[in-house]
Amino acid sequence: MKVDVLTLFPAMFAGPLDESILRRARESGRLQLAVHDLRNWAHDRHRTVDDLPYGGGPGMVLKCEPVFEAVAALSGPATRVVMMTPSGRPFVQPVARELAAEEHLLLLCGSYEGFDERIRQGLVHLELSIGDYVLTNGALPAMVVIDAVTRLLPGVLGDEASAEDESFSHGLLEYPQYTRPPGFGGMDVPAVLLSGNHAAIARWRREQALTRTRQQRPDLMENLGPANAPANDEGIS
Ligand SMILES: C[S@@+](CC[C@H](N)C(=O)[O-])C[C@H]1O[C@@H](n2cnc3c(N)ncnc32)[C@H](O)[C@@H]1O
Repeated sequence: MKVDVLTLFPAMFAGPLDESILRRARESGRLQLAVHDLRNWAHDRHRTVDDLPYGGGPGMVLKCEPVFEAVAALSGPATRVVMMTPSGRPFVQPVARELAAEEHLLLLCGSYEGFDERIRQGLVHLELSIGDYVLTNGALPAMVVIDAVTRLLPGVLGDEASAEDESFSHGLLEYPQYTRPPGFGGMDVPAVLLSGNHAAIARWRREQALTRTRQQRPDLMENLGPANAPANDEGIS
């Protein structure tokens, strides 16, 4: 997958995307990432990309001209233009899966007060928010999207099953995980996990996932499909 990023802070991307799984995805060519400085498309000697808001108010607004020119230069027929904005659609795991099927993403990172509305109207296919809070600029949200999408690309995770059996993949939070030693600080690994009984382990994990989801994220319980809905005898309404 090809991902281009348009930002005022390209240096922020060095580091997080150069480590571990993301680094290997880039080295193997499964993720082709390019980060571009929006100021490259400014035309004056101060490299201006923002201006005062019409109607007054605090802060600066990103101008149409450089963003339209940059998107034209970086887009192809398969490009999906994604704007990072707190007023976007919530970025959740099903959206990450949707995006992982795309050929080319172009992520627009805002700064200051955000974008001139005509950028949204004229260029953007999808607006994404990473949560109900406001960050200083769109670089961190873009990195969150790149990370979550890249690990879903075929071949990126060593064990393909690990993206199948984790929080949100079936609408539930993940069950508790343990590794050696079997006892630590007075806390023991549940006996069922040491039993070798795979059916009992699967049942225990599902019950734990349901309990944890009900406790931590009751909102997710409301959206469970029939395949995941708890049976009546599990006492969860
Ligand atoms: C200070 S914010 C602008 C906030 C804007 N005035 C508003 O109230 O919606 C600057 C930029 O950071 C990015 N940003 C901040 N919080 C975000 C979030 N929760 N999700 C996605 N992008 C965000 C966006 O690209 C945004 O244009």
